[in-house]
Amino acid sequence: MKISLYVSHTVLLFLFHTHQTTEEALYDRTLLTQLDYSDFPSQFKQKIVNPGRDLFCDSLIVRPLHSTDYDHGFLDILKQLTSVGDISKDLFQKRFHRMKASQDYLVTVIEDTRTKQVIGTGSLILEQKFIHECALKGKIEEVVVDDTYRGKELGKLLIAVLVKLAKHFQCYKLTLDCADHMIPFYETFGFQKKNNFMQIYF
Ligand SMILES: CC(C)(COP(=O)(O)OP(=O)(O)OC[C@H]1O[C@@H](n2cnc3c(N)ncnc32)[C@H](O)[C@@H]1OP(=O)(O)O)[C@@H](O)C(=O)NCCC(=O)NCCS
Repeated sequence: MKISLYVSHTVLLFLFHTHQTTEEALYDRTLLTQLDYSDFPSQFKQKIVNPGRDLFCDSLIVRPLHSTDYDHGFLDILKQLTSVGDISKDLFQKRFHRMKASQDYLVTVIEDTRTKQVIGTGSLILEQKFIHECALKGKIEEVVVDDTYRGKELGKLLIAVLVKLAKHFQCYKLTLDCADHMIPFYETFGFQKKNNFMQIYF
């Protein structure tokens, strides 16, 4: 009797563990902790030493997207930017692992460690080229900060970190698309408006 109770407890524990999703980072987190932030844009009002390692604004940290962020509000943040649709956990996981395998997607988030919720995100996408001696071109996509956290320099922080990452990967250029009213925001990082931007929706 004692043995069967022991076994079922062990089995239960085993089942519990196998149903836990292992937390994986989309890219190596040490990339963020090792970047040199000493020349961070002087327009920051607060002192930001190392956003990938030290908590700033009391409890916020910059980190790569995690495979478990489906449960930490990541998609809700994206919904504040555009239409996201109905994404199952399974689909989220599949997309996460495809992105991770390619190594070209640096989806970066800000987490509030008090609530463990994602409160901001921005992505650097590395585009493989043949031109310029097989260079990499960087593109910034999907920059959004939760509306209750806006105006605290977090948008600025995301862009500054993504620009640092693009330099780390030696991208020959970094581009982004934005609305006219956001141009001054990006100009503070050195972005310049150039040419026309064409698109077609399917
Ligand atoms: C854009 C966004 C990411 C900025 O985040 P934030 O954390 O509020 O921005 P910051 O506090 O870092 O502000 C940085 C500067 O940009 C300015 N700024 C912020 N949002 C702006 C907006 N929508 N239009 C114009 N300027 C803006 C701020 O005035 C601030 O300037 P200051 O330092 O001189 O005061 C945020 O407003 C957001 O998520 N918006 C919805 C999604 C979106 O539009 N994303 C951008 C797609 S290109």
